[in-house]
Amino acid sequence: MSELNEQGNILLTLLADGEFHSGEKIGELLGVSRTSVNNYIKALQEIGLDIYKVTGRGYCSAAPITLLDKDKIEQLSNSRTVHVEQIVDSTNQWLLDRIANLKNGQSCISEYQLSGRGRRGRSWVSPFASHLYFSFYWRFDSGIDKVAGLSLLVGIATVNALEKIGVQGVSLKWPNDLYYQGKKLAGILIELNAQATEACHSVIGIGINVRMPAQQAKLIDQPWTDLTTLSSQPIDRNLLSATLINELTTLLIEYEQSGLGPHLQRWFALDYFFNKEVKLLIADRVKTGICRGINETGALLLECDGVIEPYIGGEISLRLAD
Ligand code: BTN
Repeated sequence: MSELNEQGNILLTLLADGEFHSGEKIGELLGVSRTSVNNYIKALQEIGLDIYKVTGRGYCSAAPITLLDKDKIEQLSNSRTVHVEQIVDSTNQWLLDRIANLKNGQSCISEYQLSGRGRRGRSWVSPFASHLYFSFYWRFDSGIDKVAGLSLLVGIATVNALEKIGVQGVSLKWPNDLYYQGKKLAGILIELNAQATEACHSVIGIGINVRMPAQQAKLIDQPWTDLTTLSSQPIDRNLLSATLINELTTLLIEYEQSGLGPHLQRWFALDYFFNKEVKLLIADRVKTGICRGINETGALLLECDGVIEPYIGGEISLRLAD
């Protein structure tokens, strides 16, 4: 399935205004019975849309829906390589499947992911038209050594983009998460395709919680927040996508030349754990100390008994000390 069927799309367009629509009117529009209307509504609810029924008034989306719009994103970003899908397995996978033919800056953005993936084999809850599921391709001609600090750079680019659309106060949690007041707002999953001596192809996946539907929230097993909760303005996912494309492009070009060095101060300013007592979970070991930020390779710096040591690796988790 790569898109809703015709009736699903008609219903979605109708409910997008956030107003009530009677079952009778919907039935007429779709050319189906009242029972079938119920089934179409259920199908939209199953993919994550928050649709309510109120007796005597009809059906209503919990909030107005603005769909992703390729033309708008391309116009706002000056990019001509934006790919928008209604339904994909995973936006990262969509790019990975086409990796041999991609140009730097190609993006794939979707309303819904059937198998959105997070780090460490977890799944990423991806309700329809609720959040941003965004993937971006970049090729590093200088090879895989260059990408050590990439996820940290992408975190900074994402915070920059959020600030540019008016969302302030977001911080970064080493190595891949965006936090707001201790709750997860967004995550980054970078997937690489590289041979030792050749160019390194990267797919940068970013998932940002925009408006969490009540039912989907029950599937998440850690403190979370979304942009709708922390912003007084409605969030325009098209503008956010375009701003992310611009920000990533600018920072990646610079990163290829100069690495992470020029961004260390910015990281320190955004680091949620900077100068706090933390514990590192490394396989079955726990190491406590004071977080002193990161170094130029993207390693976490931990101070223990006055000595600062770098830590790096996918299997390390960072927590506030008890
Ligand atoms: C994490 O915090 O575990 C990383 C989450 C990354 C989710 C994004 S959504 C867009 C892209 N496509 C995926 O399947 N995953 C990433």
